[in-house]
Amino acid sequence: MFRSLKSIPLVLVITFSAVASAGPLGIGSTATPEMIAGWDIDIRPDGTGLPDGEGSVAQGEGLYEAKCASCHGLFGEGEGRWPVLAGGDGTLDTLHPEKTVGSYWPYASTLWDYIHRAMPYTAPQSLTDEETYAISAYVLYLNDIVDDEFVANRETFARVKMPNEENFYVDNRPDAKNERCFKNCADPKTFEIVTTINGLTPTGHFKEDSGVAANHYEGNPSAASESGMSKVMNNTKIVLSDKATVGKGVYDKACQACHNSGIAGAPKTGDKTAWVSRIDQGMDTLNGHAINGYQGADGVMPAKGGNMSLSNDDVINAVAFMVESSR
Ligand code: HEC
Ligand code: HEC
Repeated sequence: MFRSLKSIPLVLVITFSAVASAGPLGIGSTATPEMIAGWDIDIRPDGTGLPDGEGSVAQGEGLYEAKCASCHGLFGEGEGRWPVLAGGDGTLDTLHPEKTVGSYWPYASTLWDYIHRAMPYTAPQSLTDEETYAISAYVLYLNDIVDDEFVANRETFARVKMPNEENFYVDNRPDAKNERCFKNCADPKTFEIVTTINGLTPTGHFKEDSGVAANHYEGNPSAASESGMSKVMNNTKIVLSDKATVGKGVYDKACQACHNSGIAGAPKTGDKTAWVSRIDQGMDTLNGHAINGYQGADGVMPAKGGNMSLSNDDVINAVAFMVESSR
């Protein structure tokens, strides 16, 4: 949790600059122990950081049913597509691994920390320490890791051994395989780029004819069909309407991060198969979905792609570009 401390000066600038100022810039102030305590909530594998208090499996049952079961199921089986918390033993090396707290998680401390920090999903950090002990105990019980008499507190919780712990180990490989280069280094212009995310990967300094990167089209709509996208579009020459031509600029800025790659279930622009039934819904539906956002079977399309500074017309133009490029 030490890393979070870095954010404290920023918080202070916003919150306290009128009250106190320090240092050469005259902003910020020394974080008080109370402020640091608010950030310093991590629990380590050996139990360091676990607070006072305790909670039993029996107490956890009612709390779990009230606060967790609506998403994670009464027995941790997961309602609908919400995460499964229990079961999955022995599935990790099968074709259908089921990662749960019991089958996968290395340390009980992570469970306490995660529930305390992040759950319930709609009200993170609303649980007291006692409630977190009780609910954590109950989730361990659902996974047959503790029995129904178990009472979790600093001592007992730190002693819990998780079934999958031994399959985790410290990865001490270096971040980069190569020695850092200080002289006679390779010229970036000679790098072969095999894949880029259009508009995200900085490619300006790469070699002119290095595949995708060099095909990066820059603001020229008619270039789209000769560009990296032509691969996606099966080399069909596409003539865009005026609306779609304008829309391409919006698309590059606000939509391509998902729709060029197909990340998280977004239909790839230019992929006819992905678009045919979508286009059948009619432009009004597509525009409505793009403007207001929706959750479909493949994923979540955020309203306006998450860019609320776009006007409805911007989005409609971008949809026109996507549809015309994907027929
Ligand atoms: C509104 C639905 C909802 C409720 C209620 C809820 N959770 Fe979750 N829970 C989620 C979602 C969504 C995730 C996945 C979050 C993510 O991956 O960022 C999650 C993840 C988890 C995980 C990690 C699962 C894994 O293996 O990665 C645990 C443990 C967990 N929740 C426990 C709880 C507990 C305990 C409660 C009650 C105090 C609770 N949750 C209440 C939706 C919910
Ligand atoms: C964060 C990723 C993301 C961004 C950014 C994004 N989309 Fe999407 N979009 C999706 C996903 C995921 C779907 C598929 C949802 C489904 O059908 O399950 C989708 C679907 C769509 C659809 C098909 C709707 C339908 O009814 O089939 C349109 C149209 C669309 N997006 C337009 C846009 C436009 C326009 C932008 C930019 C303004 C944009 N998207 C930005 C993720 C994104």
